[in-house]
Amino acid sequence: MAKIIKKDILNSGVVSMEIEATRIASKAQAGHFVMIRVDQHGERFPLTIADANKETGTIRIIFQVVGGSTIKLNRLKVGDDVLDIVGPLGMPLHHENIRHAIVIGGGVGCAIAYPHAKALKQQGSKVSFIAGFRNKDLFILKEDIEATADHVYFTTDDGSAYRKGFVTDVLKELLESEKDVDLVIAIGPVVMMKAVSNVTRLLNIKTVVSLNPIMIDGTGMCGGCRVKVGNEYKFACVDGPEFDGHQVDFNELMLRNSAYIQQEKHTCKLIEEETQ
Ligand SMILES: Cc1cc2nc3c(=O)[nH]c(=O)nc-3n(C[C@H](O)[C@H](O)[C@H](O)COP(=O)(O)OP(=O)(O)OC[C@H]3O[C@@H](n4cnc5c(N)ncnc54)[C@H](O)[C@@H]3O)c2cc1C
Ligand code: FES
Repeated sequence: MAKIIKKDILNSGVVSMEIEATRIASKAQAGHFVMIRVDQHGERFPLTIADANKETGTIRIIFQVVGGSTIKLNRLKVGDDVLDIVGPLGMPLHHENIRHAIVIGGGVGCAIAYPHAKALKQQGSKVSFIAGFRNKDLFILKEDIEATADHVYFTTDDGSAYRKGFVTDVLKELLESEKDVDLVIAIGPVVMMKAVSNVTRLLNIKTVVSLNPIMIDGTGMCGGCRVKVGNEYKFACVDGPEFDGHQVDFNELMLRNSAYIQQEKHTCKLIEEETQ
């Protein structure tokens, strides 16, 4: 059991929670995630450790309410417990000797990209952060990102705030003007990570993406999170979830992630009916 000690609504569909998890907090690094089970009838599902505080023994998760498990998690209040929380899982990313990194977050992907920006800053790299949202009502972590990165660029798909367009529009311009960029990290919708990787491939700039295949155990045993990277199959939970964006087969990932759409819609409907 792990107690929720803080809950904030970041936008209409995204929630931040701080949870007591002393041992996980003491070991968490950028790139790590946890597997959560809300209650005894729940499935296990992965969420990134957006922040960890060793002093208070807490971790922060930021999640989009998209279906059955996240609806259930969002129903919990401060003082409630989640049944299981396992982690830290995955391979943390070590970015050494990076002069200038461009960190890109798309939507809730900003929550997963943010710890990387923080870690890079702490080790002395220059960080430019590009954060893209569908519209102005969906912004999250604006102040945290602004306080961390050297330069911040916001975009909205519909032009309702800041620059109208996609993160790749800003990326292309930055790569033309900034000649010291030696790392790009892109985290968000699969189509966005694919588009970013296509831009940087032409310039041969190292690009890391964080993959979100369906995970079941999170420990390398079930094979559910299989992803094709170069000529090999990798398990995102133990070999990733971060990989070389130039090597990832994004089309296969999109196909595999849509395999359970009907079941996911059905579960979501059942859970919503329960509450009516
Ligand atoms: C390593 C990793 C880190 C992640 N970190 C975050 C995060 O910090 N914040 C966040 O909002 N989301 C994160 N996700 C995605 C998150 O796990 C899913 O949104 C969540 O599992 C949805 O479950 P659901 O039952 O609410 O929705 P469902 O209706 O069951 O599914 C909605 C969509 O979520 C994905 N999904 C469903 N079950 C799983 C599963 N067991 N494993 C992976 N994806 C699944 C599928 O793409 C699916 O189409 C992460 C995924 C991975 C693999
Ligand atoms: S989730 Fe089972 S092997 Fe990765």
